[in-house]
Amino acid sequence: MPAETDRPIGMFDSGFGGLTVARALIDLLPNENLVYIGDTARYPYGPKSATDVRRFAIELANSLVHDFKVKMIVVACNTAASVVLHELQATLSVPVIGVVDPGAQAVVRASKNKKVGVIGTAGTIASRAYEGAVAKASPQVILTATPCPGFVEFVERNETTGVAVTQLAEKLLAPVRDAGIDALLLGCTHYPYLSEVISQIMGPDVVLVNSADETALVVQEALLKTNMARSLSSSSKGEHEFYSSGDVQHFAELGRRFLGPELSAAKYWQTKSN
Ligand code: DGL
Repeated sequence: MPAETDRPIGMFDSGFGGLTVARALIDLLPNENLVYIGDTARYPYGPKSATDVRRFAIELANSLVHDFKVKMIVVACNTAASVVLHELQATLSVPVIGVVDPGAQAVVRASKNKKVGVIGTAGTIASRAYEGAVAKASPQVILTATPCPGFVEFVERNETTGVAVTQLAEKLLAPVRDAGIDALLLGCTHYPYLSEVISQIMGPDVVLVNSADETALVVQEALLKTNMARSLSSSSKGEHEFYSSGDVQHFAELGRRFLGPELSAAKYWQTKSN
């Protein structure tokens, strides 16, 4: 019978974005087992209603607990975390970690002039989750929050550079560029793949912050606190399983380009509803 600590960490996102968090987790905690589900059949979550996103996230989280027996869940999607993190934390039998608070703390720490920005999906920005998280991290900090509809679709098409995405970014980033910020949080797990374009537009004086590394540190801390870290003496490296509710071949091919060789194959995860 496998040790309790051998149970995997479960993660989910609407698609490929959460792979930025998976990468950080694998790098920081290489011997942890991991199950990742990308809900590509129902992406993007950003423009969907909070009711739909909540339903999807609850379905994914329950599957991770019951079908995969995970020991912890990482909601590797800002849109889902903004809507349903607290509910999942209150109802599930395992610890649940989101990306919003770790990101907010990191961007506040990165700012010297105490003016920060966050960009995210329409759903994330409308939820005002970052207003609360940044104020909790530091009440003096002024936040400019701007939605970037369309960014996720460019990433999912692997069109992370080029004229079209740059033109869209010029337009969407204008409010944060004009706000005098010195640190910008990429408040969507897909956006780190657009870092090149975003940093070109924001200029060298604005630090880009992504929540992936910070979230991985929070996971490590939570595992240690609950005595659930997989023993370092475990002979094997962690196993990493990847699932997609859409085209698994496409998920494996594009996902490998984003995450690296650990994503050698993907399996199918069946949604219960649309
Ligand atoms: N990557 C997700 C996020 O962090 C979701 C993007 C989407 O599906 O619209 O918000």
